[in-house]
Amino acid sequence: MALVSLKQLVDDAFQNGYAVGAFNVVNMEILQAALKAAEENKSPLILAVAESHLGLLDLDQYAPILLRAAQQASVPVAVHLDHGQVFSNFIKALRCGFTSVMFDGSTLPYEENAAKTKEIVRMAHAVGVSVEAELGHVTGGEGDASPGVADPTLFTDPEEAQQFVQETGIDALAVAVGSVHGIYKGTPELDIPRLARIRELAGVPLVLHGGSGLSDDDFRQAIANGIAKINVYTDLSQAAMAKIRTAQGMPQNTDFGQFMAQVVDTIKEAVTEKMRIFGSVGKAK
Ligand code: 13P
Repeated sequence: MALVSLKQLVDDAFQNGYAVGAFNVVNMEILQAALKAAEENKSPLILAVAESHLGLLDLDQYAPILLRAAQQASVPVAVHLDHGQVFSNFIKALRCGFTSVMFDGSTLPYEENAAKTKEIVRMAHAVGVSVEAELGHVTGGEGDASPGVADPTLFTDPEEAQQFVQETGIDALAVAVGSVHGIYKGTPELDIPRLARIRELAGVPLVLHGGSGLSDDDFRQAIANGIAKINVYTDLSQAAMAKIRTAQGMPQNTDFGQFMAQVVDTIKEAVTEKMRIFGSVGKAK
């Protein structure tokens, strides 16, 4: 058990028709909740640190905690840099012992995205670290408060995806097929035929960003068509904030630590719900 590569987790999920949740651990509360949910449900787990969240935490302090937690877990856990763009952050993640990094060149022209991804793959694979990259662009940011809609002109092109995977040697491909980061404006609609074609041509485990706000059926169809990793943050943030709002009516002397333990439990329930829908429950081996 314990600390493993992303590749090990997503390859098994891809082959066996389920997905592993990648939860953005912006603080200890989400970390504790995700670990508890994974252990109680015997589910593999991906602890993701988004580059955009580095202002909320000090990676030098936090990385040893994440890695130790992963090493001691009774289930397999990958520690992953999410949406990395800054070169020094990759070096930091590798030096800290992360087992996976995502290079996000999704707003770059194809050639530049492919060239930079290849460079990261060369570096990461040299030390046994997995690489995810994005082709096409999933709009919005982690926990985005302004509701967003997907832009079909930015969806992943299946033929390009095939070329991208072959050229770069990545372990997992993040695709744009209708999801957005943050809150959805209206009802999201995933382009499942496009996803099926990408799976056929790309041949690597696929990643769905923007896993908050999608329906159970969206997840089932996405997983049936090659999605093996699903990123979730906003739903956890919203669940935690709903619980925190209940503190307003509590007595003045309410204990902070005790209350935050309840917040952790609330987040744990939200993580557990995702694990059930993703089919990762009982898949820890
Ligand atoms: P949500 O915040 O929409 O769940 O997306 C998370 C994500 O994709 C992180 O990379």
